[in-house]
Amino acid sequence: MALMRLDKFLSDQGIASRKELRAVIRHGRVSIDGTVAVKPEMKIDSELNKVYLDGKLISYSKYRYFMLYKPCGVVTATEDKKQKTVLELLSPEMRRMDLFPVGRLDKDTSGLLLLTNDGDFAHRVISPKFSVKKRYYAEVEGELTECDEKAFENGIELRDGLKCRPAELVRLGADRCEVVLTEGKYHQVRRMLASVGKPVTVLKRLSVGNLELDKNLEEGGYRELTEEDLCKVFSR
Ligand code: URA
Repeated sequence: MALMRLDKFLSDQGIASRKELRAVIRHGRVSIDGTVAVKPEMKIDSELNKVYLDGKLISYSKYRYFMLYKPCGVVTATEDKKQKTVLELLSPEMRRMDLFPVGRLDKDTSGLLLLTNDGDFAHRVISPKFSVKKRYYAEVEGELTECDEKAFENGIELRDGLKCRPAELVRLGADRCEVVLTEGKYHQVRRMLASVGKPVTVLKRLSVGNLELDKNLEEGGYRELTEEDLCKVFSR
């Protein structure tokens, strides 16, 4: 049994704000199991009751998953006193869903960032134990060499002595490449490339597992993940 207020049930699905929904309910537009419900505070069982808005069945999902095309210039945090956060890019409805970023992209990194309210999911994506691949596009100063590819393959030792897992570096041109990691140390791609003398000038995350950044999204845009997308995150 999962009892909750009717207005919360609806707002958790991002339909409208709690205030707007209270008015919608009072206007008799919501019914539960065939009976009109006019009290926003009424308790319903999200697993058993069938809730309809204007005759349309509203299915309830406790956990929500989104991909965001993070632009440069915003920080990966839920709040920050001085800087704009990734959550500030979302609609007011989504900001009521208790979403948080899955892992972290630097302020100057753009690309695919997952957002969810499911802590277990986030753990499985981030933890090196599950080896979910993260693929990045990078532009660098200097000229990338076969030697750099080999160094990544063997596991880079960062300047502070920290050893990285073997990773993939695929050269796309003299000063651009793709990097695939299965872990996520602080500033890892930038630090790995710096350790072979190639400071990063541009960094963008392209995929997480087999889930690619949606080409239809503009920077700052986002969309909910489908079941198929969720499977791709963990498929090899
Ligand atoms: N590695 C980095 O250096 N920065 C990121 O934002 C992500 C991976």
